[in-house]
Amino acid sequence: MRIIARGRAPDGRRGQPVAMLAATLLAAAVLTLVTSLAGARPTGDNSCPWVGQKASPARRAHEVLRHMTLDDKIALVHGAGGSAYVGHIPANERLCIPALNLEDGPAGVADGMTGVTQLPAPVAVAASWDPKLAAGYGEVIGSEEAGKGANVNLGPTINIVRDPRWGRAFESFSEDPYLTGELAASEIRAVQHQGVISQVKHYAVYNQETYRNTPQDDAIVSRRAMHEIYLPAFQQAIDEGHVGSIMCSYSTVNGEYACQNRYLLKKVLRNEWGFKGFVTSDWGATHSTVPSARAGLDMEMPDGTYYGSALEQAVEEGQVSEKTLDRMVLHILTQMFRFGLFDHPARGNPDATVTSPAHAKVAREVAEQGSVLLKNEGGLLPLDASRVHSIAVIGPGGGSQAMTSGGGSAQVQAPYVITPYQGISERAGSGVKVRYAEGLYPQGQLPAVPASAFGSGLEVTYYGGTDLSGNPIATGEASNIDYNWKGSSPTSGVPATDWSASWSGTLIPPKTGTYTFSLTSDDGSRLYIDGKELINNWGDHAATTKTARIQLTAGQQVNIRVEYYQAGGDSSLSLGWQVPGSTSPKQQAVELAKKSDVAVVFADKYESEGSDLQDISLGSDQNRLISAIAKANPNTIVVLNTGSAVTMPWIDRVKGVLEAWYPGQEDGNAIAALLFGDVNPSGKLPVTFPKNLAQVPAHTPARWPGVDGKVHYSEGLDVGYRWYDEKNLEPLFPFGYGLSYTTFRLSHLTVTPEKVHTGHKVRIRVRVTNTGSRPGDEVVQVYVADPQRTGEPPRQLRAFEKIHLRPGQSKRVSMSLTRRAFAVWDGSTQTWKVPDGAYRILVGDSSRNLPLEASIQVEGQ
Ligand code: BGC
Repeated sequence: MRIIARGRAPDGRRGQPVAMLAATLLAAAVLTLVTSLAGARPTGDNSCPWVGQKASPARRAHEVLRHMTLDDKIALVHGAGGSAYVGHIPANERLCIPALNLEDGPAGVADGMTGVTQLPAPVAVAASWDPKLAAGYGEVIGSEEAGKGANVNLGPTINIVRDPRWGRAFESFSEDPYLTGELAASEIRAVQHQGVISQVKHYAVYNQETYRNTPQDDAIVSRRAMHEIYLPAFQQAIDEGHVGSIMCSYSTVNGEYACQNRYLLKKVLRNEWGFKGFVTSDWGATHSTVPSARAGLDMEMPDGTYYGSALEQAVEEGQVSEKTLDRMVLHILTQMFRFGLFDHPARGNPDATVTSPAHAKVAREVAEQGSVLLKNEGGLLPLDASRVHSIAVIGPGGGSQAMTSGGGSAQVQAPYVITPYQGISERAGSGVKVRYAEGLYPQGQLPAVPASAFGSGLEVTYYGGTDLSGNPIATGEASNIDYNWKGSSPTSGVPATDWSASWSGTLIPPKTGTYTFSLTSDDGSRLYIDGKELINNWGDHAATTKTARIQLTAGQQVNIRVEYYQAGGDSSLSLGWQVPGSTSPKQQAVELAKKSDVAVVFADKYESEGSDLQDISLGSDQNRLISAIAKANPNTIVVLNTGSAVTMPWIDRVKGVLEAWYPGQEDGNAIAALLFGDVNPSGKLPVTFPKNLAQVPAHTPARWPGVDGKVHYSEGLDVGYRWYDEKNLEPLFPFGYGLSYTTFRLSHLTVTPEKVHTGHKVRIRVRVTNTGSRPGDEVVQVYVADPQRTGEPPRQLRAFEKIHLRPGQSKRVSMSLTRRAFAVWDGSTQTWKVPDGAYRILVGDSSRNLPLEASIQVEGQ
């Protein structure tokens, strides 16, 4: 039995639940099977002549439309429950319209489905800078969605990573529109090649979770920044990916919800870009009936709050014309015909096992190609198995807590996970002693304070609301504080969300000395000892741990009070401790590191949709663990499992750093192959890693997460590396950066013609030589610096190419720039213009290492 809810994160936390919940798999699967077969099967009596017809999808759609009643039309434009899929439109048997089954997502089949492949996070695809690999990734997603009976894949997520704190950075591609667009188009084509409609998301300007789906997430953004930064990847998804569907976002954009935003949906999407597919609202992102229908929203998900009887009535009363409704229906039907849904009934079903060794191979390849080597001092890597006799694998993420996936709707259930410890042990072979130490309690959460420490137990008081100021609504007793309510009500009479509670009692310390307490909660919590606040973990967030120390005396009882509130999504609370004198996991790890030739520390930071990160630090315990290990062993390598940039206060003390993102089920195999050099690391950062949070473009509260109900995108075009370049800031690691076990030389740059009219292609040729001793891939990156008076950022990525070279081998790489590479959004005419002038073409291997340069004269208009 499967409950239709968000998947579960490795640590048991769940992402933001969707509104529709709790249909059992059995009932749902049977229903889906019956409805999809019944609806899709040609009747044979010619009552549905459009089935199997040769006419164009648009003509066939018109023909169906002619036979549709108002009820038929309304049923097609909104979701309904009772299915195994996260989004479902039941089949219409009479008209032979098959069911539409929508399923996440961006990193493989999600929403708790099993028997699927857990691919690495999309950010790893982006770090590969390889559209061919993105196609391989899309092929797995498309084929597995089809195998599960889904005909719409909710992905890829192509919003720009405006800030590393975004809770969905891991499931997006990058901070650059061109890199994002190239990969998106390639992935979409591959998904759709499997007969599955890709629903690219989230249109548009959706860059944070804070205030999501409320008017306070009101992005105040210029049209120029939209066209140059936030929208191009969507256009590329349409022009080059030929995407069938688009999901409008939770954001409010310049004062109007995205799903009823006429500028975005009509002016840009339909008029400027000529999009022919259908637009679906993100789950719960429809906020009206008439304005949404008039603005161009075709389908409401997950239900018919606004597009059910309300829309029917609006049509009957003439507030929404039947023509408008017909257009919505035609957008949907045309794509259904285009993808053969009428002609080839879905054969998959939600119970099918769709993962395969071939898909696991793709997962591994993406993890290998998407990992980025950030530091390799003294050539410690690759590890030489003949010289390294012992390896210490350290960190919860090195073992059973391996962080292989982010959370929310992009979270995929792994059929298995190869942990780093397993992968490294296997690869190292019997000649190398590989040992493991956890180093930390998982997520820093200490073992729960046992009931025996609380003497006479704890009194619990529950309140309605999230501030403990309302009247108590229930009371109870508890023996300790260690809960996982999983989004349900803690006790009868208390609602599932928006409640708070306090636990009060006494604590009798068993020993004298320094105690460390941990408080882990989703959402807020705080700990008071003898009336003084010791830990403040008060805020809306996914499960987060904070710790603090205090001196206590054996037998000397203290008053203890824990306060908690739940604001939505999942709910959990745990009070843990470490008693003085016990050997900490950190000390054990330090001992192991001391007696090993090499120490590999795994550190992570979890991301999930529904909340943003509060900072970009790994958490003090992980930073302290890395520093302690680096002190104990000069050959320390850090492997990071994060969804975006993090700070590295220990960077000068370790020899190696490998950013492996969330690497999916093949984690350990990929890491081992990279550490031992079976695979050359060739990933490049798709996002800038700042030195600290003060450096990021959206570092002010007005920009992130916004003040007084407005989120000011006042950094304009200076997003990601554009900002660091403009402000002359030196990041920790720049966009496009990544080391390799071999070396490359770029030379012989030619740019032709030297003088060009708009519309003509500019050809860029450059020679790349592998000057090292190992085979490897290099990503050649081309940036264009516009004439200064255009007001464009100093340089922008306009082309790239990844190539493979054997040691000593040279290849000539040829790339081209089209008009788009020189065009600027002109605010006065609201069109693209190419300013005349001299443009510099810069070529290199990162946004900050561009040794080759040429200049061309562009005559624009
Ligand atoms: C997410 C979408 C997702 C949808 C359906 C929403 O909460 O924002 O990305 O596709 O749920 O699961």
